[in-house]
Amino acid sequence: MPTYRNIVVLTGAGLSAESGIATFRDKGGIWSRFDIEDVATPDAFRRNPVLVHQFYNDRRRGHAGVKPNAAHFALAKLEREHAGSVTVVTQNIDALHEAAGSKNPIHMHGELLKALCALCGERNVWSDDLDLKTACPSCAKKGGMRPDVVWFGEMPYEMERIYEALIGADLFISIGTSGNVYPAAGFVAATREAGARTVELNLEPSEGAHLFDEAIHGPATQIVPAFVDRILSASA
Ligand code: NAD
Ligand code: APR
Repeated sequence: MPTYRNIVVLTGAGLSAESGIATFRDKGGIWSRFDIEDVATPDAFRRNPVLVHQFYNDRRRGHAGVKPNAAHFALAKLEREHAGSVTVVTQNIDALHEAAGSKNPIHMHGELLKALCALCGERNVWSDDLDLKTACPSCAKKGGMRPDVVWFGEMPYEMERIYEALIGADLFISIGTSGNVYPAAGFVAATREAGARTVELNLEPSEGAHLFDEAIHGPATQIVPAFVDRILSASA
C-alpha cells in the first residue's frame, strides 16, 4: 500500500455497533422502532417536544455504560502514529471517538452529550435528562433547551471544514455507514473527484459501494485495526 499524507475518515453507526449502540437501518435498528418524523425533525420537536426529549433522554442514559471498541482505539492510534494529517468526521452523536483518545473528531450530526439553548444559542456539555423545564446554564431561561443533535432537514455542522479536508485528502476511508444520508453519503464522490483513493470498511456493501476503489467487509473491531496497521506499516 503506498504511503498517504492526508487521510480523512468518515464514521457511521456501524463503528459503535460492537460497543452496544444500535445502528439506524440494520435489522432492529432505531428507525425500525421509531419514526424519524416523530423524533428526529424540527417539526417533530415543535409538535411533541416531550416525546423528542424522551427519545434522546433514553439514548443519553444508554450512553452512560458504553465503552469504545477496538475500532475506535485503532483510529486514535492512526491519529497518533500517522506522519501526515488524519481528520475524523463522524455522523455519530456518541462520545466514543473521544473516549478512545481521538483528539478532535468533527461531529457533523452534533453530540448527544451536549445541549443547545434555542433562546440564546449557547451549547453546554450535558449528561442528564432534558425537558421543557430545564433552565439554560448560560441564559437561565427555560423552554429553549434541546439536544445538540442535527435533525433531518437541518444543516450539518462544520461542512466547510469537512469539504476542505476532503479536497486535500489523498486517502478517504468510510467506516460503518450505510451511505443513505446526505451530505455524508456524497463525500466519497467529492474526494474521489479531487484525486483521493477511497476505501470502504463496512459489514456489507453500502449504497455507495460502487464509488469506492476498495472494499473490506467484516465487523469493524476486526477490519479497522488490521487496516490501520496496514497503513502504518506502509509508511514505516
Ligand atoms: P436525507 O434525504 O439526507 O436522508 C436520506 C435518508 O435519511 C433517507 O434515505 C432515509 O433513510 C432517511 N430519512 C430522511 N428523512 C426521512 C424521513 N422524513 N423519514 C424517513 N426517513 C428519512 O435527509 P434530509 O431530510 O435531507 O436531512 C439531511 C440532513 O439532516 C443532513 O443535514 C443530515 O446531516 C441531517 N440528519 C441528521 C440526523 C440525526 O438524527 N442526527 C439524521 C439524518 C440526517
Ligand atoms: N462493523 C462494521 N459495520 C457495521 C457493523 C459492524 N459491527 N454493524 C453494522 N454495520 C454497518 C451496516 O452494514 C450499515 O451499513 O453500519 C452501517 C450502519 O448504517 P446506518 O444504520 O444507516 O447508520 P449511518 O450510516 O451512520 O446513518 C447515517 O442517518 O439517521 C441518521 O443521524 C443518523 O448519523 C445517522 C445517519
